[in-house]
Amino acid sequence: MTDTLMTRELTTAELRSKYLEFFRARGHAVIPSASLVPDGDGSVLFTTAGMHPLVPYLMGAPHPAGTRLADSQKCVRTNDIEEVGDLTHLTFFEMLGNWSLGDYGKKESIGWSYEFLTGEEHLGISKDLIWVTVFEGEDGVPRDEEAADIWRSLGFPDDRIIFLGREHNWWAAGPEGPCGPDTEIFIDRTQTPCAEGADKCLPGVCDCGRWFEVWNNVFMSYNKQGEDLLDLPRKNIDTGMGMERTLAVLNGVESVYETSSLKLIVDRMIALSGKARDEVYGDERLLKAVRVLSDHLRTATFMIGDEMSVRPSNTGQGYVLRRIIRRAVRYCDVLGVEPADWVEAANLVIDDYGDHYEELVKARETILAELGGEKDRFSATLAKGTKMLEKEIERLNAEGKTVLEGDVGFRLYDTYGFPVEFTVELLEEAGLALDMDRFEAAFAEHQEKSKSEAAKSGLADDSEESVRYHTATHLLHSALRKVLGDHVHQRGSNINRDRMRFDFNFERAMTKEEVAETEALVQKWIDEDIPVETEVVTVEQAREKGAIGLFNDKYGGEVSIYQIGDASLEFCGGPHVKRTSEIGTFKIKKEQSSSAGVRRIRALIS
Ligand code: ALA
Repeated sequence: MTDTLMTRELTTAELRSKYLEFFRARGHAVIPSASLVPDGDGSVLFTTAGMHPLVPYLMGAPHPAGTRLADSQKCVRTNDIEEVGDLTHLTFFEMLGNWSLGDYGKKESIGWSYEFLTGEEHLGISKDLIWVTVFEGEDGVPRDEEAADIWRSLGFPDDRIIFLGREHNWWAAGPEGPCGPDTEIFIDRTQTPCAEGADKCLPGVCDCGRWFEVWNNVFMSYNKQGEDLLDLPRKNIDTGMGMERTLAVLNGVESVYETSSLKLIVDRMIALSGKARDEVYGDERLLKAVRVLSDHLRTATFMIGDEMSVRPSNTGQGYVLRRIIRRAVRYCDVLGVEPADWVEAANLVIDDYGDHYEELVKARETILAELGGEKDRFSATLAKGTKMLEKEIERLNAEGKTVLEGDVGFRLYDTYGFPVEFTVELLEEAGLALDMDRFEAAFAEHQEKSKSEAAKSGLADDSEESVRYHTATHLLHSALRKVLGDHVHQRGSNINRDRMRFDFNFERAMTKEEVAETEALVQKWIDEDIPVETEVVTVEQAREKGAIGLFNDKYGGEVSIYQIGDASLEFCGGPHVKRTSEIGTFKIKKEQSSSAGVRRIRALIS
């Protein structure tokens, strides 16, 4: 492995500021990271790449900060959560990126990447260690000779420019939307081909450990719609550099957990365990526990400390957070760390990242309180779940069965939060097993459902505050129709425990009087303490009753509706408060344009 490529250890904060300053000096506006919770279509629960929040601008909308942007974006990916604990997997990471929105092209993008990586006053990496891959052409999109020529003009020999197909050198934001060929930049860590031989041990292809991808420059000039690849109105550049992995290779350390910000947490965890460093590093199980605890603490801290503040719950983002905290509490046991000490160590993360991510500092108390609260709930759950499982074991024995039904295992997990590993372990001790296939199927079904429910109701979580806001949106919807006319309909909403947004069709700005009247009407209904009732009816019955709102016909013709006295009747999946008085005081903070023919109201309750 290459030794450190730096003259001294480069920290997270240093790499971030070097990167952002480099691009600031080249005319880029440095924009703050967007929230971890995407503001939009609900198709994913978390922001997973730097370009994710920028999709509307890559599609053609003007960005308020201009056409050259750079940032360090908070990202969460939890699909590989079981892999966390190896050398490279993390659930939270930062992605550094620079963008051209129809501004500069490949020449500047490649040239600057090369300058930043190799320039003495920047990262100063030896030019001989850099290899690149370029799109070789496929499916009607030509070979990217332009990118290859630019690399050649920088002095790259042909044998360090590798042409690869779509599988390697094509990047898309999703199944549809902006996409294009890319050029990927690799560090050669060993300068020696592996046993595969020099013609096979190539960047992007060989995973022997020799190659390390530091940067991806995507030339986003297409828009995938269905089967069609359309031209975008303007050609964009989207680049991404994974912070932790790049730091690891620059500093010549084997794992991302040895980079400054994670190492800080790792060291604290080892100290809290009271074990010797060598003992932990020499024992795979302990080492994995240290890494899981470190990764999960950072992720949970960023989720709760986010401007959209995720809270532990049973749906959507809150469900993922709950899983992460509970998983960590279990690993506390493996390493021998008091869960309360793990919670307290969130202060380390806040202090380390707080200069750049000020939202963490502001949310310090909330972060500690939420982590602590979930830890306590989980302890109670463990006691209760063990009791319930013991009953199931008795039943299986009485029925002469040896396998616990997957749905029962899932109910224990989902309803009571009892970890499936515990279920398996306790069953094994009793000489029994779990129907894992059915458990996994039930799990997948649940995830799909919670994703679409959160997206439909626009709730970030099912906390008490969010639920109060949710009921308030129903009242606001009705009040707007009373004040502005029946042609007004909801176009979307976005709710978290601190605020709500409500979009509706209306052709002009509301007058001050109309805003005041709407606010007063909502408040009147709240003060009337009206009960909120729900029932499941056929779509036809709902229509006859005059229910309004967004609904989906696909549920076998049956829908649930929520009625608030004479004030409101809407199609909705809930959740809602029991009586309107629980909402409190309702204030409209802003009425503004959202898009053509759509207005947006921002409101607060207290
Ligand atoms: N959007 C590209 C990535 O995430 C740069 O790798």
